[in-house]
Amino acid sequence: MSQKTILVTAANGNVGSSLARRLLDQGFKVNALVRNTASTSARDLERHGANIFQGDYDDIKSLENASRGIWGVFINAFPIRGTLDELRHNTNVIKVAKEAGAKFGIYMSAILTQYKDELPDLNPQHERYHYWESKYGTEEALQAAGFDYWTILRPGTFISNFFGPLSSFAWPTFQKQHLLISPVPPSGTIPLVDPDYIADYAAAAFAEPNTFNGLAIDLANEDITLKDFGKLITDNTGIQITVNHVSKEDAVAHGIPASFAVWFGWIKMTNYHTDYERLDQLPVKRTTVTEFLKKNKNSITAFLSA
Ligand SMILES: NC(=O)c1ccc[n+]([C@@H]2O[C@H](COP(=O)([O-])OP(=O)(O)OC[C@H]3O[C@@H](n4cnc5c(N)ncnc54)[C@H](OP(=O)(O)O)[C@@H]3O)[C@@H](O)[C@H]2O)c1
Repeated sequence: MSQKTILVTAANGNVGSSLARRLLDQGFKVNALVRNTASTSARDLERHGANIFQGDYDDIKSLENASRGIWGVFINAFPIRGTLDELRHNTNVIKVAKEAGAKFGIYMSAILTQYKDELPDLNPQHERYHYWESKYGTEEALQAAGFDYWTILRPGTFISNFFGPLSSFAWPTFQKQHLLISPVPPSGTIPLVDPDYIADYAAAAFAEPNTFNGLAIDLANEDITLKDFGKLITDNTGIQITVNHVSKEDAVAHGIPASFAVWFGWIKMTNYHTDYERLDQLPVKRTTVTEFLKKNKNSITAFLSA
């Protein structure tokens, strides 16, 4: 059993909490960095055996505390619109972890980051400029940090976005009207990913550093049309989901953020498709969107019935 210690940042979050549990189950020690130590998630992790560290990415002392004796670090700061805070936060984590002697850094980035310089109109006035600069800059900082091992995971769209706090922002007619309005053409696919699957990858990488060292991996469970996704939700919950494809202008009039159409335009422009052949060669079992829906059936049904 390994007794290496991993610092998991954003350990109260979707991926961090899932990863921390996996690492503990695999026999790692986990230092879980959270802001809110009283959260249900932090208390669950503590019961599971994690060492909980209260901290903030701007509080270097708190990062130093949480980094003492670590072998690996999971880097996952949060984008803050219109700022490069995410880049500064991630850089702080990387620097402190390296100084503490960490050998392995894993960063959760996002798909399309590698195309940052090809995305049209991505000037400092663009609303997504800071997002991509932060993701790209962190990928560069990780590779330059001098860790013995590094891995970059670039997930697509979290399936959980549809059923949590982000839903009302991205899909304002979904929770109450069970209607997905989309500016994406009917044939357009979205790379959907289960946060637990990302955690599976990060946990596998920490367990097998030589296999994952130096890899940047686009991650999704399935590239799927919205109609097919709506049907899967209906099949799994019995709740009828309707999908309407409309023009960009109509979507915006229905409250869909304009950035969604822009993001999909970039998916098309870069001809992005998840490379499942490559994923299936790596030693992590790929799960399906249906498995996510089954696993979360109760909470999804409650969300759509609220
Ligand atoms: N959602 C998607 O579709 C998607 C797709 C690709 C990439 N991503 C990336 O995934 C990341 C989010 O991951 P996630 O969904 O696992 O996280 P999450 O559930 O959104 O949680 C974010 C966590 O960050 C912590 N946090 C925020 N600001 C902090 C600070 N200043 N110092 C310390 N901790 C701080 C919060 O801690 P407390 O709870 O303790 O306050 C919170 O638990 C983002 O970088 C996002 O861009 C998301």
